[in-house]
Parts: sequence; structure tokens; C-alpha cells
Amino acid sequence: MQVLIVGASRGIGLELVRQYRADGAAVSATVRDDAGAQRLAELGATALRLDVADAASASGLAWQIDGAAFDVAIVNAGVIGPRGEGLATPTEADFDHVMHTNVLGPMRVLPQLAEALVPGARLAVISSRMGSMGLQASASNWLYRASKAAVNSVLKTTSLVLDGRATCVAFHPGWVRTDMGGAGADIDVGTSVAGIRRTLAALTAADNGGFFNYDGTPLAW
Ligand SMILES: NC(=O)c1ccc[n+]([C@@H]2O[C@H](COP(=O)([O-])OP(=O)(O)OC[C@H]3O[C@@H](n4cnc5c(N)ncnc54)[C@H](OP(=O)(O)O)[C@@H]3O)[C@@H](O)[C@H]2O)c1
Repeated sequence: MQVLIVGASRGIGLELVRQYRADGAAVSATVRDDAGAQRLAELGATALRLDVADAASASGLAWQIDGAAFDVAIVNAGVIGPRGEGLATPTEADFDHVMHTNVLGPMRVLPQLAEALVPGARLAVISSRMGSMGLQASASNWLYRASKAAVNSVLKTTSLVLDGRATCVAFHPGWVRTDMGGAGADIDVGTSVAGIRRTLAALTAADNGGFFNYDGTPLAW
């Protein structure tokens, strides 16, 4: 099995690499620095360089994966941006950082991945239930929420374009103990990633365009 993880230097992305490698998959994964590349090398994965928020870097993904045919591709890179409650207008710099990473990044990467999948591949974006409007009951972190709602739309469009060629889904990984999730989060990365992998493996073509919790429970958009 050939797997690609976008955004794999730490946290959920690095654990995805670790578990797919432990399963014997050939894994290519992207990082932004030497320390990340070193961690991937130690896991026996191929390190690619990619900053999804940089146009020149992102456009270089296609040649790095030229000739590859992935069974599973997961776009995981993301940032949370400024945290806070209520209607605090973000600075333009914060807006651009979060939207360029969480939305424009996937819009740069997904078209390149679409050309590098086996027929019937599984393609996932790690989104968040904070991007769900149907489930929203809190006014925290509105910039992050808006970015994840937007990337959910991006995933839905991708699923329509790739219908019949790949099964494309968005995931909420749980509230996970990573740099982003913090030490007080609900679950560890191992639990989150094991659930994501199990859910991905069990998907059928009928699940194309779906939004799932890490444990496989469908989520409202
Ligand atoms: N943890 C949670 O509770 C939680 C909940 C819901 C959703 N999520 C989502 O899950 C995904 C992974 O989160 P995490 O908790 O593992 O976060 P994390 O520990 O902060 O890791 C974020 C990852 O994204 C990469 N990244 C950030 N900006 C990038 C860019 N411009 N180009 C390429 N890679 C970039 C980071 O690489 P560098 O090391 O180079 O910065 C790192 O590998 C994110 O999309 C996040 O929104 C997390």
C-alpha cells in the first residue's frame, strides 16, 4: 500500500506516518524542515518538502510525487490561529495565515493529488467539527471555524469531481493531545489515528463526500 501524508512533522500527521509504516505501507510524507525530515527517516518514510502556504513550494508537490499512485492520501496540515471568544475581528495577517494554510493549501494540494491516486483510492482532509455549522454551539475561535467550514466545502467539491475515481472524506480527528490540542485534550494521537485509519479502510464508494468523526460516526456539515 502506498500512502501520502501532507503535514507530517509532528502531531496527528507524524502518528499517521508511524501507524501506516508499522502496518508495512510505503509512506511518503511532507515536512517543512530538516528536523521533520529526520523524524520521517527514522520511521522509514520518504520525506518531501512542502509549505502549503507558499505558492512556489506548493506548486512543487506534483514533480515530487510524479509517477506515484497512492492508495491513501491525507491532507493534515493546519493551524489554529488566534484563539478567543466572540466577534473579535482578526488582523489581516492572522486571516491570511489561517486561510492560506487551512483552505488555500488544500486547494493547491488536492488538484495535484487527484492525478496521483490509484482507482478507488481514499482521499481525506483532516478538518474539524469546529467547521460544522450544523453542530456549532460555541462562539470560540471563529476564524479557525470559518477556515474548517471552508475546507469542508473544498472537500465536498473534490468528492464530486473525483466521484467514481476515489472516495473523498473530511475527518474530525477528535480533541487530540498535540501541540494544537493541548495537554488537556480528550484523546491521545494513537487513539485518534487508529480510528481514522480504521474508518478510512472501511469506507465504501457510497461514503464519498462524507464528514466523519475519527471513530467512524458520521457528522453533520
Ligand atoms: N489536535 C486537535 O485536537 C485537533 C482537533 C480538530 C482538528 N485538528 C486538525 O488536525 C490537523 C493536525 O493537527 P495537530 O493537532 O496534529 O496539530 P499540530 O501538532 O500543531 O501539527 C500541525 C501540523 O501541520 C503542519 N503545518 C502547519 N502549517 C503548515 C504549512 N504551511 N505547510 C505545511 N505543513 C504545515 C505542521 O508542520 P510544522 O511542524 O512545519 O509547523 C504540523 O506537522 C490540523 O488540520 C488541525 O486543524 C486537530
